[in-house]
Amino acid sequence: MPPSWALLPTLCLCLAAAPTHKYSTRVVRTKYGPLRGLILQHPPVEVFLGVPYATPPLGSLRYMPPVTPSMWRSPRLADTFSPVCPQNAPHIVNKTEALLELPRGRVAYLERLLPLLVNQSEDCLYLNIYVPRGGKSSYINKGN
Ligand SMILES: *[C@@H]1O[C@H](CO)[C@@H](O)[C@H](O)[C@H]1NC(C)=O
Ligand SMILES: *[C@@H]1O[C@H](CO)[C@@H](O)[C@H](O)[C@H]1NC(C)=O
Repeated sequence: MPPSWALLPTLCLCLAAAPTHKYSTRVVRTKYGPLRGLILQHPPVEVFLGVPYATPPLGSLRYMPPVTPSMWRSPRLADTFSPVCPQNAPHIVNKTEALLELPRGRVAYLERLLPLLVNQSEDCLYLNIYVPRGGKSSYINKGN
C-alpha cells in the first residue's frame, strides 16, 4: 500500500477534528486561478482541499471525458473537502461481526475512512493536495 494512502485518513481526520484552521499566508498560482490553502502543524503540511480539476461532470457532461474547469480570478479558499464520487462502501454495523470477517487493521482503517465517504456526488472531480512544509519534507515519502 503506498504510504500516501496510509497517511491520508490520518490527515483527513486531523482536519475533521479541528474545524478552525489557520489559512496559509501565501497564495499559490495555478493554471486555473489562485489558491489559498490551510496550514497544519501536525504533521507539518500545507493543505489544499477541493481543488477542481474539471468542470463538474453533470448534465450533458455526464460520462463524458473531463472538461477543463472554468478559471477563477480571486484567490479560492481551498479549505473544504468536496463530496467523494458515488461508491458503495462497506458498512460496519457491528464491529464484532466485522472482525470475524476482516483483519483488525482493515476494520480500523475502514472506521477512519467511512466518515469521509458520507458526502457523495457525481460532482466530485476535485483534488486534495498535501504539501510538506519546513525541514520535514521527507515526511510524506517516509517508508518509500
Ligand atoms: C454484534 O454481533 C455479535 C456476534 O454476532 C453479537 O453477539 C452482538 O450482540 C452484536 N451486537 C450488536 C450491538 O448488535
Ligand atoms: C458533508 O457535508 C456537510 C454539509 O455540506 C458538511 O457539514 C460536512 O462537513 C461534510 N462532511 C464531510 C466528511 O466532508
